[in-house]
Amino acid sequence: MSKLDIRIAPEVVQAMLAHLRHDTTDLAAQDIHVPAEHFTSPERARAEIALMKTLPLTVAHVSELPEPGDFITREVLGTPLILSRQADGTVQAFLNMCSHRGGRVEAEDKGTRRVFTCRYHGWSFDAKGGGLRAVPFQSSFEQIERESHGLERFMTELRHGFVFVDFSNNTARSVADYLGPEVDAQLEPWQLEQSVIVIDRTFTLGINWKLLVDGAIDVLHSQFLHPGTVGELFETNIGVFRQYGRHGQLFTARKKLRTLLDSGQAADIGTRYMASNLVVYPNLSLIAAPEHIECWSVWPDPQDPGKATVNIRFYARKAVLTPEIEQRAQKSWAILHDAASKEDWPMEEWIQQNAALRPGRTFRYGRSEISAQHLHRQLALDLDH
Ligand code: FES
Ligand SMILES: [Fe+2]
Repeated sequence: MSKLDIRIAPEVVQAMLAHLRHDTTDLAAQDIHVPAEHFTSPERARAEIALMKTLPLTVAHVSELPEPGDFITREVLGTPLILSRQADGTVQAFLNMCSHRGGRVEAEDKGTRRVFTCRYHGWSFDAKGGGLRAVPFQSSFEQIERESHGLERFMTELRHGFVFVDFSNNTARSVADYLGPEVDAQLEPWQLEQSVIVIDRTFTLGINWKLLVDGAIDVLHSQFLHPGTVGELFETNIGVFRQYGRHGQLFTARKKLRTLLDSGQAADIGTRYMASNLVVYPNLSLIAAPEHIECWSVWPDPQDPGKATVNIRFYARKAVLTPEIEQRAQKSWAILHDAASKEDWPMEEWIQQNAALRPGRTFRYGRSEISAQHLHRQLALDLDH
């Protein structure tokens, strides 16, 4: 293994090698049938968004807010946020809404401020804590209680370099509790808190968010939809799936792993021979590549179930980043972008259109489509009481 390589757990490698030997793959107990309506129904979409707002969501990376006082603004599930880096290194999330008459107090995408000032009537708020700082022409108001006129705050936590926001302010559960030890263990070697963003692209697509996640954890399609590219590099319908509570991880084999197996040398296996896609429930998917990790954040459109926004980022570890690695990441992005925009997304758009045409039908997810099954099963558990 090279020093860049991240080792795959021997237990997973053994399971993969067994699958390669026997042409098998991890299987769910049964097929499931997902109503097409789940991709088109406004009620379903509203329920999913309401569910997301009770979970810790990754909304940013620390490298976007390197210094105290740095801020970024971002709209998450229709909610305008200001994320502000505090002197103690933590990040606070405020609702970008003035307590006077509801204006946005920050108009810029990013910058550095100690005070946020609403440009409507000049009320200002401390970046530290969000408290109301000053009110111009205060004497023309009745008594204003400062405590109840600060910026609204949401619970925020940093973990693995990600800024997690919990709109429900659930203090009973930390992000570590939510992720669980297995997800932590998978993310830890990537040193994401010490990583830099080398690719950062956002796309708005006419596709329900779940179809986008499904497409990224699909072990069954490479050789058919990507015959000349990804399908030549990866085995189709050979995968190892590990469930970590609500989260899940699909490991796939590069074809060169079979070559290694045939030569009898497969022992110490890392990301050069196997890729993995870790879905941090519900909408974050982390795809391990040899030298970087791809991170897809998939956001449902707050109004239209048939639309989603996906932000794709490649993170590279600062400690090992060289211009060559960055160049290879750019090349890898070009291949991924080609496959996604010419092959995956057009197919998912067709599915979206067909779902709208026949909402009474169901779509079948077979036993080997276990990782996508897990997402739909978990959503059903959380939503269908
Ligand atoms: S709405 Fe912000 S100061 Fe009036
Ligand atoms: Fe694909």
